[in-house]
Amino acid sequence: MLKTHSCGDLRETHVGTQVALAGWIHRRRDHGGVVFIDLRDSTGLVQVVVDPKQTSCAEEVVHSLRVEHVVRVLGNVVARPAGTENVRIATGAIEVSVTDVEVLNECPTPPFYINEDVEVDENLVLKYRYLYLRRPRVQSNLILRHRMVKGIRDFLDRERFLEIETPILIKSTPEGARDYLVPSRVNPGKFYALPQSPQQLKQILMVAGLERYFQIARCFRDEDLRADRQPEFTQLDLEMSFAGEEDILDLMERMMVHLMEVVRPDASFLRPFPRLTYADAMAKYGTDKPDLRYGMTVVDVGDIAAGCSFSIFRSALDSGGVVRGICVPGCATYSKHQLTDLINRAVAAGAKGLVSLSVLDKRNVDDGIKSVLARYVTADQMHAMLARFSAGNGDLLLLVADLEPIACKVLDTLRREMAARLKLADPDTFNYAFVLGFPLFDWNAEARRWDSMHHPFTAPPSEDAPLLDTDPASVRGRHYDLVCNGNELGSGSVRIHQRSLQEKVFALLGYSPEAIEERFGYFLRALEYGAPPHAGIALGIDRMAMLLAGHESIREVIAFPKNQNAVDLMMDSPSMVDPAQLAELNLAFKRQRIDRN
Ligand code: AMO
Repeated sequence: MLKTHSCGDLRETHVGTQVALAGWIHRRRDHGGVVFIDLRDSTGLVQVVVDPKQTSCAEEVVHSLRVEHVVRVLGNVVARPAGTENVRIATGAIEVSVTDVEVLNECPTPPFYINEDVEVDENLVLKYRYLYLRRPRVQSNLILRHRMVKGIRDFLDRERFLEIETPILIKSTPEGARDYLVPSRVNPGKFYALPQSPQQLKQILMVAGLERYFQIARCFRDEDLRADRQPEFTQLDLEMSFAGEEDILDLMERMMVHLMEVVRPDASFLRPFPRLTYADAMAKYGTDKPDLRYGMTVVDVGDIAAGCSFSIFRSALDSGGVVRGICVPGCATYSKHQLTDLINRAVAAGAKGLVSLSVLDKRNVDDGIKSVLARYVTADQMHAMLARFSAGNGDLLLLVADLEPIACKVLDTLRREMAARLKLADPDTFNYAFVLGFPLFDWNAEARRWDSMHHPFTAPPSEDAPLLDTDPASVRGRHYDLVCNGNELGSGSVRIHQRSLQEKVFALLGYSPEAIEERFGYFLRALEYGAPPHAGIALGIDRMAMLLAGHESIREVIAFPKNQNAVDLMMDSPSMVDPAQLAELNLAFKRQRIDRN
């Protein structure tokens, strides 16, 4: 090694030791000829002091040192003079008095600061990823992720799970996104699909008798990207034979508690993890991934609204909709401009409008409530409305009248927005919860067909199976989600393990017998051969790491993420390929290639 010690490891106990260090120049200050350098390696920073008169290297070398140059220094660890200690860094009690400096490599001026945590243009962050990854905070994200994944492996190993790899070149698996396809050279005209998840393979491992499988699995989905979505991402994928809902939920709760002890022992969370039904979550929070760190729950006032003469409420209710709202504490004094901003957000989320009530004096409903609604409700109705929200003076009520899915979406958006503004969500609290009781199917009105709420392998409770023929809408799914602070962390279910039931579900989803055989024939055959009852789950590793590291985007916890257009800006991928490669794959473009750059 070029070094005897790592920068971040030096302490007072090393005073008097001769050391060799190697790393990057994080900061440099020239104090009248004596150069103070914060030297950085992956373990942290240490101050090294280069007095040209005390070193054996040439003075020009000392003065040519710049940030991000890679250097090796030899020197002695000394205690810092009293009063100059730096309590903000672990090595702040000492410094290294340098006897020799060697420049191992130079670095042009970086396109952004590495030694300051200021925001940088996303394109630069992605293009110069190796420089962004040098930032200590970004490295700490990858360290947290490593500890988290190691915590998962240790925990599951103790629980007698086996880590088994499944192939990346597979056949299409339906998880609701488009597949990434890979042409096969040796099978002209045929394609592999990259796994959207190893769903069918892990079920087949259960048929194979492995009983307890897990994998830190790469998944690939060609879908619209958001802050919590990447085209390739990582799951903790897990499956367990002879298990039901309770076994998986218990295992996941114990695993998450273990992970909190490993990576965020400082944080708090609710225990046992609360359980909500899908219907309750939608009614109380407007979403199936609620943030349970704060209240402001959704309240239904349809019955009160039905009695008033406000036409917007009446027409929403007449067309089968709902009137619901939230009560935001302390915002009754919002200005017209601030209220317009909220209306715009509601409209962007799909609402036709937003009715606000500013509660200035709740006892005086004639003058004390500022709202367009005031003219259309009786005093009794207004009192009833305020009582329903338990509203007090200073509160702002925000009401939406619309079809239920739209009202839910809008109120979820407003609830999150207002919580962020009012800083109601403690960043060091992680309120995990399980959501259960999902319907098995979701009616796709556009395509006029049933879609799986989760995926086609989820089992209904046995007592609901007869409803598959008569009333698919009311069939429940044995599906569960793990959510935390407004994010879906994971999803799983008890699976169908009988061929006949699996075939029936495929048929209900609109697959023809030929399509079932072509796409799932191998899987159905496996189910015939003594498939045990089994259940499983998959958790998004990137999302978990993002949350535990306190970030809003999974790109912060992925070493080499892609941008919003699924482009890797550092490697410039995807890219054109050589026509010879295409020819070898029996591929040709139908139209002239358009070079977008
Ligand atoms: P599902 O599709 O719900 O379930 O995915 C499970 C979890 O994976 C994460 N996730 C993603 N993370 C980042 N980018 C994406 N594009 C992305 N898509 C999903 C989420 C999500 O909760 N096979 C089933 C699991 C099972 O039934 O066992 C599945 O993949 O955190």
